[in-house]
Amino acid sequence: MRGKSVVILTGAGISAESGVRTFRDNDGLWENHRIEDVATPLAWYNDPVMVWRFYQARRNQMQEVEPNPAHLAIAEFQREHGNVTLITQNVDNLHERGGSESVIHMHGKLETLRCESSEESYVCMNLEHLSPDFVECSCCAEPSRMRPDIVWFGEMPMFMREIYEAVDNCDVFIVVGSSGHVYPAAGLVDVASQMGARTILVNLEEPMNAESFDEVHTGKAGEILPALVKTWLDEV
Ligand code: OAD
Repeated sequence: MRGKSVVILTGAGISAESGVRTFRDNDGLWENHRIEDVATPLAWYNDPVMVWRFYQARRNQMQEVEPNPAHLAIAEFQREHGNVTLITQNVDNLHERGGSESVIHMHGKLETLRCESSEESYVCMNLEHLSPDFVECSCCAEPSRMRPDIVWFGEMPMFMREIYEAVDNCDVFIVVGSSGHVYPAAGLVDVASQMGARTILVNLEEPMNAESFDEVHTGKAGEILPALVKTWLDEV
């Protein structure tokens, strides 16, 4: 793959071996709520305490987990190859902690909170930001409650212009650990294909959009990705 422009899209499966639960592998429920019902602007409006508790639990959990060999392999691939754009649907910071320098978080990040008035995001990971209480922002004249800096169902994912530009112009498009349920991320493989890119999937099992890929490698990302990365680096 030397000299080729590569885009990697990761999903919850890449963080599974670090101990972060995926969205759809188990029963897909959180305290009897479907993820689609917790992660919406309406849920935040109707029951902000429940939504806040859900994200505070995930923000706290992020402190306790570590990057796994799949995150490290991608960081090594970026370093060694030199032309790899990394896009993630994940809101954790395990790619960064695994050594990836430039990561496009299309569904937002757990480590930042957003002021609902100014729309500005701030890193909020100190002890006082991680309690069950809401965090107040004082960036505007009226202090107001901050919301999780997450793209909820019904909201537009972030950085879509940069993402389409990278996918439109890539030679190789690789997806790791994603079920292909959530659009527009799930449709990026078709965009890459239409533009003539080689498309590769690395996933525990064949997901619903598997037939969209030229190559499918099934297995745990932490176990099979390090060897795949070596093969890709050796390819001309
Ligand atoms: P999903 O939970 O839908 O899918 C995770 C995929 O990873 C599944 O296909 C699993 O088979 C696979 N998987 C599990 N363990 C794996 C492992 N060790 N190695 C490789 N693959 C593994 O997660 P996403 O596709 O990321 O959105 O979900 C997309 C979006 O849905 C998320 O970003 C989130 C969610 O609602 C928002 O929060 C906006």
